[in-house]
Amino acid sequence: MNNQLVQFAYLASAVLFIVGMRNLSSPKTAPRGNLIASFGMLVAVLATLAMSEVVSYWTILAGVIVGSGIGTVLAVRIQMTAMPQMVALLNGFGGGASALVATAELLSYVRRGVEPVGVVPIAIVLGLLIGALTFTGSLIAFAKLQELMKGAPMVYPGQQVVNAVLVLAAVALGYLVVTQPFELMPYYGLALLSLVLGVLFVIPIGGADMPVVISLLNSYSGLAACATGFVLGNAGLVISGSLVGASGIILTKIMCDAMNRSLANVLFSGFGAVDQTAVAGAVETRTAKGYTPDDAAVIFMNARSCIVVPGYGMAVAQAQHAVRELSDLLQSKGISVKFAIHPVAGRMPGHMNVLLAEADVPYEQLIEMDEINPEFPETDVALVIGANDVVNPDARTDKGSPIYGMPILDVDRAQHVFVIKRSMNPGFAGVQNPLFFNDNTMMVFGDAKGTVLKIAEAIKNLS
Ligand code: TAP
Repeated sequence: MNNQLVQFAYLASAVLFIVGMRNLSSPKTAPRGNLIASFGMLVAVLATLAMSEVVSYWTILAGVIVGSGIGTVLAVRIQMTAMPQMVALLNGFGGGASALVATAELLSYVRRGVEPVGVVPIAIVLGLLIGALTFTGSLIAFAKLQELMKGAPMVYPGQQVVNAVLVLAAVALGYLVVTQPFELMPYYGLALLSLVLGVLFVIPIGGADMPVVISLLNSYSGLAACATGFVLGNAGLVISGSLVGASGIILTKIMCDAMNRSLANVLFSGFGAVDQTAVAGAVETRTAKGYTPDDAAVIFMNARSCIVVPGYGMAVAQAQHAVRELSDLLQSKGISVKFAIHPVAGRMPGHMNVLLAEADVPYEQLIEMDEINPEFPETDVALVIGANDVVNPDARTDKGSPIYGMPILDVDRAQHVFVIKRSMNPGFAGVQNPLFFNDNTMMVFGDAKGTVLKIAEAIKNLS
């Protein structure tokens, strides 16, 4: 295929990626965004295939069949709650692929006896370093989330000094590779060091912070792809790699902001290394009051408005369909129902939007935190379903709390608050929640799905 045509195809795919991403910013247009971006990727892949001179189409086809086969099985079998570790694996493979491409290209230069020039040697070093680091870092993130290894941060004295020394060693080896590309020992040394750095970078971070790390590694996998784009002189790879790199870092920032923590705090503080209950606030002397689904039904019968606050527990219990049924029932009784969406409810960005969309809850009913918070004081019932940290009032008031400063949903300001969860156990941040002890809070203990169904049943029986 004519090179100009290929470059034009890459430009077209870049435009499609950007338009696709623009559409991803709202749940309503997200499916269309996905389609547009996928089409862009198809264009880029076809253009790349059209100019492939080195690898036979049979080899490519074999790779496509094996890769798509494994990918399809994984995608079909994965539970929604296990999505973060799936994304971690995919990032890891992306980074690993970039490192392999950089290596193959360097070896090809050596074999041909041609020195890489311009940005190529630097791009080879960056592709290897970032790609290999992303590979092992993502595997550790996967292992922590899959509970194959302990989620607690592994910290030891002088850890950051050791890491800094290793980074300097990596820079020195990278310099040797750039200046003496035919000497392969520094290259192999850098490969090993990059793999080790990936492990060392992720082990001090607690399992609970893994979603942020995964988002960051996602950004790295994009940067590694971008570097290999320069190595191969492939504009499509440079563009898509930069888009992944930039969007990954923006998402990381959004997640850190929503938890009111800096990225440095997530990466270096060893959050979760100490028993968080020991540092959080005063010991609660009040007792939480347990109520039955029948009690809840009675309150609902006298309510006119309800805000549902879903959290991680709704995802664990897969209660979204039951929640939708309850919402429909309440609306059929003339009660207005809205869903309050906290940016970091659950364990991955957009977790609640995805689950509620799956249960066909209309998008208009999903209201973002800043918009819904002023409505709580006028709301009869706030129904908290498996959420904990995102409704913890200590985040507003208790400076000693690890979640102090995190913006929360102001459910405590509603007239009545129902909290559905199985026990008094804390959530992700490991801290107790004073909301559960408030006079206007009623705990309805039980699995989210079963309890929501029981409340719906009780309402039907009453009417
Ligand atoms: P959490 O604070 O983690 O609380 C979830 C609660 O759900 C738990 O207290 C648990 O209590 C309950 N639960 C678990 N399984 C349940 C079930 N089957 N039925 C009923 N309840 C169940 O959740 P949240 O309020 O959604 O907050 C999310 C947290 O994750 C925040 O701290 C946030 O910073 C963090 N985080 C989120 C993200 C993203 S991107 N979403 C990324 C990193 C970190 P019981 O065990 O008593 O049932």
